[in-house]
Amino acid sequence: MTQTNSSWGGRFAEATDAFVAEFTASIGFDQRLYRHDIEGSVAHATMLAQCGVLTEDEKEAIIQGLQDVKADIESGKIEWSVALEDVHMNVESALTNKIGIVGKKLHTGRSRNDQIATDIRLYLREEIDHLCSELTRLQSALIKLADKEANTIMPGFTHLQTAQPVTFGHHLLAWNEMLQRDYERMIDCRKRVNILPLGAAALAGTTYPIDRTLTAKLLGFDRPTENSLDSVSDRDFAIEFTHASALVMMHLSRMSEELVLWASAQFDFIDLPDRFCTGSSIMPQKKNPDVPELVRGKTGRVYGHLMSLLTLMKSQPLAYNKDNQEDKEPIFDTIDTLAGSLRAFADMIPHIVAKRESMYGAAAKGFSTATDLADYLVKRGLPFRDAHEVVGESVAFGIQENKDLAELSLEQLQQFSTLIEADVFEVLTLEGSVAARDHFGGTAPAQVTAACQRARTIISKR
Ligand code: ARG
Repeated sequence: MTQTNSSWGGRFAEATDAFVAEFTASIGFDQRLYRHDIEGSVAHATMLAQCGVLTEDEKEAIIQGLQDVKADIESGKIEWSVALEDVHMNVESALTNKIGIVGKKLHTGRSRNDQIATDIRLYLREEIDHLCSELTRLQSALIKLADKEANTIMPGFTHLQTAQPVTFGHHLLAWNEMLQRDYERMIDCRKRVNILPLGAAALAGTTYPIDRTLTAKLLGFDRPTENSLDSVSDRDFAIEFTHASALVMMHLSRMSEELVLWASAQFDFIDLPDRFCTGSSIMPQKKNPDVPELVRGKTGRVYGHLMSLLTLMKSQPLAYNKDNQEDKEPIFDTIDTLAGSLRAFADMIPHIVAKRESMYGAAAKGFSTATDLADYLVKRGLPFRDAHEVVGESVAFGIQENKDLAELSLEQLQQFSTLIEADVFEVLTLEGSVAARDHFGGTAPAQVTAACQRARTIISKR
């Protein structure tokens, strides 16, 4: 007799081609799901016993067996087998080896199709919770630094050209807002992850008298899914997760870009701790901002995973298709990339040193208070367009004299408008400029301190 697969070989006349077995197996990567696979099986067996499909003794034997299999996996006693294809059949076979024939009853009323959909959701739920706590850790670090730097003045940029002075704390809180939205997106995505597909079986449901609400409750899911066909084929939640993750990485890459610029000798705004940087093997003077550079670079792979998953699901007919096995590696790598990047950032941010004098010096160059001069003239009755013109001429004069507006004398400024008086210097200073933007959402130090307080309150409620 030909040796065929022991789990489904009944109708086969020949064994699987050795390369095909290798090619179609997922155990190489889905072994990562073993804990969740066992957790799902324990709940399934518990529900089956409750519904009279398994006896109490059978249930007890299965649950004990599964706990032993878990211990064996964790102590390295189990060798994953490609012939057994995936984590589900590897675990089931280890169970049957342990407890004998009763182990074969575990798969009653379910299929690997609803089983894998359940495993991924259990796994992803746990990982989302971890990522959310890392997001919170990073946000608290940013808020703390923002509070400390609420009075630190730096140039604010548009088009990467000096625009208006801002406070460093305000800039850091802009990053916090990005992460706040990221956190909310993750929590929202979690709602659609936390629904139980188990019970859909292969695609049409099962003939056993199962209680899906009970299984959902046992596993901490909000409810069972509505439709069995959709249950085994839906991967929207994975796409949503990857989408939310792509946005996190996009934000981290923007922060990275600024950190890299700021750490350069040309900007000289910050010092990054040595332990987050590396040197050059040839240029002894170098201290490279590797962590932000690498995080910026890793953004690409997460965008790629989003595109992979969207394309994976495109045009798939209902219900389960083997294509879906390809969902795991993009999900896993997205999680790893995000967890690593968030951890590195959350560890690094508290140790960033702001070079306050250098930031101040940069803001004092580049005519960053030009808009303040225009506002000053408007408040004295000049229409804004005319004020813009006057300031433009003053700036041109400053460039010619190699002086910033605050460095010009009152007489020099008055050549451009007689509305200018001695009190103009109050608005031309950097301190005056930031303090004047004293409204909700503005850059004034008092507003930054208040915004830090609000941000802390939001985080403390998580
Ligand atoms: N390894 C499979 C996956 O990851 C499990 C489900 C297999 N189902 C099947 N009918 N072949 O999707």
